[in-house]
Amino acid sequence: MTEDQRFEDAVRQFADAIAANFATRIPAQPEDQLKAPVRDLLEACGGIWGIEAASRTEVWAEGGIGRPDLGVTAGGLLCGHIELKAPGRGARADRFRGRDREQWERFKALPNLIYTDGSEWSLYRSGKRVGDRVRIADDVSDEGASGLRAAPVRKLAGLLRDFLMHEPVTPRTARGLAEFLAPLARLLRDEVREALDREDSAVRRIADEWRGVLFADAGSAQFADAYAQTVTYALLLAQFEGAENLRQAFAVDALRESQHDLLATALDLLENRPAREELSMPIDLLQRAIEAVDARVLLARRGRQGAFNPSQEVDRNPWLYFYEDFLGAYDAALRKNRGVYFTPVEVVRAQVRLVAELLRDRFGKSTGFAADGVAVLDPACGTGTYPLAVLQHAADEARERLGSGAVPERLRDLAGRLHAFEILVGPYAVAQLRLTQRLRELGVADSNPLVYLADTLESPNVPPNVPYSVLTGPLTRERERARAVKSQTRIFVCLGNPPYDREQRGPDAGGERRKGGWVRHGDAGLDADPPILEDFLAPVIEAGDGVHVHNLYNDYVYFWRWALWKVFDSTADAGIVTFITASSYLSGPAFAGMRAKMRELFDELWIIELEGASRGARKTYNVFQIQTPVAIAI
Ligand SMILES: C[S@@+](CC[C@H](N)C(=O)[O-])C[C@H]1O[C@@H](n2cnc3c(N)ncnc32)[C@H](O)[C@@H]1O
Repeated sequence: MTEDQRFEDAVRQFADAIAANFATRIPAQPEDQLKAPVRDLLEACGGIWGIEAASRTEVWAEGGIGRPDLGVTAGGLLCGHIELKAPGRGARADRFRGRDREQWERFKALPNLIYTDGSEWSLYRSGKRVGDRVRIADDVSDEGASGLRAAPVRKLAGLLRDFLMHEPVTPRTARGLAEFLAPLARLLRDEVREALDREDSAVRRIADEWRGVLFADAGSAQFADAYAQTVTYALLLAQFEGAENLRQAFAVDALRESQHDLLATALDLLENRPAREELSMPIDLLQRAIEAVDARVLLARRGRQGAFNPSQEVDRNPWLYFYEDFLGAYDAALRKNRGVYFTPVEVVRAQVRLVAELLRDRFGKSTGFAADGVAVLDPACGTGTYPLAVLQHAADEARERLGSGAVPERLRDLAGRLHAFEILVGPYAVAQLRLTQRLRELGVADSNPLVYLADTLESPNVPPNVPYSVLTGPLTRERERARAVKSQTRIFVCLGNPPYDREQRGPDAGGERRKGGWVRHGDAGLDADPPILEDFLAPVIEAGDGVHVHNLYNDYVYFWRWALWKVFDSTADAGIVTFITASSYLSGPAFAGMRAKMRELFDELWIIELEGASRGARKTYNVFQIQTPVAIAI
């Protein structure tokens, strides 16, 4: 028999098996009547085309959106999924309604997915249909093999072959990679969220441990998000650090060896066996996709070129916008909520240069950032653009004034006092990657960047109240180290681009704790000091302008208050703060207290208004892709 004849034979058996199942009238879900015939058909196809094809039923608890009915492996590796629909429902996933529609919205992320009701077949890749829809009969469940049509059956052979031979197409640019990984990370996040709703879930047990160690306030949504981003970025970093493959033990080893201890521990914890099994589908998909990424090709290629920032830096550094692109595709609302709009390098460099001038001219530190004892902090570092610019500036300064030989030693010293906080795991991992690479390039191989996965606005006073365990040790230590920087390290320069997001919820909104952390709410307890934001609020209320104070409930205002506390209030010493933020604080009654506090603490203050309004009658260019006018203050 030829291959074609063997295939036609297999389809005939498939159609008859379905008709027989429906004829017996054993009560069962109609989709379940299709399962065994589809599995047999795939195995038969594997035999015909020399592919070791097998399928497994994806187990999933009742209630959630769940997974496609079958996961299919080819040669032992997960190659795709099949979603079965009751006969007569068809395979036009994009036309479904109600619950099927909701399901499709999630399944769209899958890189290789067949929808079928037995008679109609469609193949989708990442939400797009590939090739034609194929209808092999009017209704196989009724007519069996006698209703099959020859030409569509031949087309089905092509569709199934394509499906079984699928290889992930790996992107060749950083932007492509961001868009490729985002839907898979989203799939993982959604499954974690559903797992958290089940009492017996192993994922739920991990959540309790993780929450206690790192972010006490993290609700289910935040935990699910942190889980998905951590696994994605830890695997990516492991791949870039040359892991042999990304199975848990190998990935964790690669991270440990390259000194990314926190991510190694996090991956170990999050991928622990029972949880890994519950989340096998999305994690397998991510693992397979990232294993196929060629780090050398990506690092060598140009990044995104935007009209908005045509700087050559983008060409040299494909990672500059990677996280922004990823988050935009992964969850645009989260991007806005966390204020993840990265800073154009020209702006960063200008701020860094101005600080270096002040260090020299006003504080007598002739080598700027390279001078002894100048501790620097970016409290919202994103992917590390400010610390990178500080390193570069110090390297240039040291080379010019002290000679090339002095560069590694000066930079090693600076690396020990250049701190950065970031709350999201994704940018944190990218910042680690970029800073480690840059330090190595500048001749400092033995120093790790001081980037902390931390919430800047969390209390500097209250130690983490979590039991120490071998597994969570590095996570607890990281949180304690960040707290020590907040409470003990004397910071001379605080700089950056803090998030901008105005609280939209009303005062009684339930759910996760409202934003502003310790700055706005202070420490718990009767003898605790009042929250430091009071200094901004009280003068406004005293002046009878209390109706305006809601404008102060904005992330950028909390970060301003925190930086003033850190550099001046907490030490009563001299220092520099420079932020690029929304400019609304420059006028208006709500910000009178904030302006008064700034006047009280600063001897000198420069404001560079960059405008950028796009809402009113007079529209001006904005250096960010946002609609709010911005200003640099130093
Ligand atoms: C506007 S971006 C700054 C990006 C950075 N300057 C860059 O160009 O890469 C603000 C960053 O602050 C982080 N962030 C938001 N809230 C934070 C918090 N409470 N603690 C620490 N980081 C926070 C966001 O995740 C985001 O990466």
